[in-house]
Amino acid sequence: MAEQATQAHKTISQLRCIGCGRIALPDRFRCETCRDLLELIYPGWEVQSPGGLDCSGLTNLWRGRRSSLNPADQSGVWRFREILPEIAQNQIITIREGNTPVYELPHCAKSAGVKQLFAKHQGMNPTGSFKDTGMTVAASFARQAGYKWVACASTGNTSASMAAYAARGGLRSLVLIPDGKISWSKLSQSLDYGAITCQLKTDFDGCVRILNEVVERMPVYLLNSVNPYRVEGQKTVAFELLEQFDWYIPDHIIVPGGNLANSSAIGKAMREMKQLRLISRVPKISVIQAQGANPLVRTIRENRGEKLIPVHAETMATAIRIGNPASWKKALRVIQESGGTVEQVSEIEIAIAKAEIGAEGIGCEPASAVTLAGLKKLVERGIVKPNEFVVLVLTGHLLKDSEFTLKFHRGDLFAGTPYETESRAAKPQQRAPLVLEPNVNAVVNLLHSAEK
Ligand code: F0G
Repeated sequence: MAEQATQAHKTISQLRCIGCGRIALPDRFRCETCRDLLELIYPGWEVQSPGGLDCSGLTNLWRGRRSSLNPADQSGVWRFREILPEIAQNQIITIREGNTPVYELPHCAKSAGVKQLFAKHQGMNPTGSFKDTGMTVAASFARQAGYKWVACASTGNTSASMAAYAARGGLRSLVLIPDGKISWSKLSQSLDYGAITCQLKTDFDGCVRILNEVVERMPVYLLNSVNPYRVEGQKTVAFELLEQFDWYIPDHIIVPGGNLANSSAIGKAMREMKQLRLISRVPKISVIQAQGANPLVRTIRENRGEKLIPVHAETMATAIRIGNPASWKKALRVIQESGGTVEQVSEIEIAIAKAEIGAEGIGCEPASAVTLAGLKKLVERGIVKPNEFVVLVLTGHLLKDSEFTLKFHRGDLFAGTPYETESRAAKPQQRAPLVLEPNVNAVVNLLHSAEK
């Protein structure tokens, strides 16, 4: 019954400028008039209009698709296709992204000072980061539109994801990454998936500037997060999260901030769920940045969001080492509309939070751990109350940056940095490997002393 109702519905989408509201052609990234970013809108959703989206059966339909054998239904993105731009089923490139777990983190809850804490782990996607949910939509669009080449500038996760989806979809891919400033595991992914990978002697922001000119000159489709189709795919994490809580609405969602597309996507999802009457209110969405890569924090604190204050970014959480975030206006709107806030955290706070998430048997990459570090500060500031229902969005898998993890536990991470003295605070979380003589007694004695 529900399937019939929605089959009749076609997702008609349009690209609209977030600044002046003009409609743009489907393969553009910026408004031709005011150069602002674009977003997808779905005029057919006006519930009152004839032929509008029938929402009554959607939640059952989406859940039911989990048991289907159709690849698009098995994707945690495409099973929500009623809220996505229409792509022909034979053009969809899916590696069964999405459908990621929600975990309770009791020890982290205690350390942050809240009663209950959950993490939605987007690092459990096929290439190990949240980027896959957006990439499946944007790469499929590129294939449907007839592009042969796709490209991105990246701090490592977008490139890994793009390379994988391009390979699965028979597209060629070009990656620009800042030389020496991304993790080796991420770099190895794009090599293995067959992308042409270029290390440029600049930072992420420099790579973006160069790529923007390359795509002007060559018929290459840009898959950076200014791509509005990526934002649509990344929206589905919020639909899935609400589904996992049986549509019970969290009080607060905490997201790391880099180029600021993920927070924009989650906020857009909440806005749309409210429009579709799937939820009655929108949770607060707060964005956490590393102190050394804090353009949004500065922009909000120093000029109330009127004009972006770009920074020269520096942080060991290399995924979010971004000083000039493209989607800052979208993220700002999400924070303001939802009643959320921004916070920044230090390198030591990130490292400690990461080890705490690891000690729950979950783990994540450094950029994801800013969420727990930020939550602690929001509780201290009284912005999050101890009895509130909070969800952290963990964006990348622990194995994305094993070098950071090893150095942290061995006690080398901050050696020779300005944080060396301060880093003593992290000692209780460090679990260095022990080197023993190869004999049984040595191991047994160790166990005895560990029991005490
Ligand atoms: N967490 C991880 C693990 C990331 O890789 C990124 C961004 C973010 C958080 C921030 O998300 O940019 O949407 O605010 N990584 C990009 C990349 C920039 O190229 O992989 P955002």
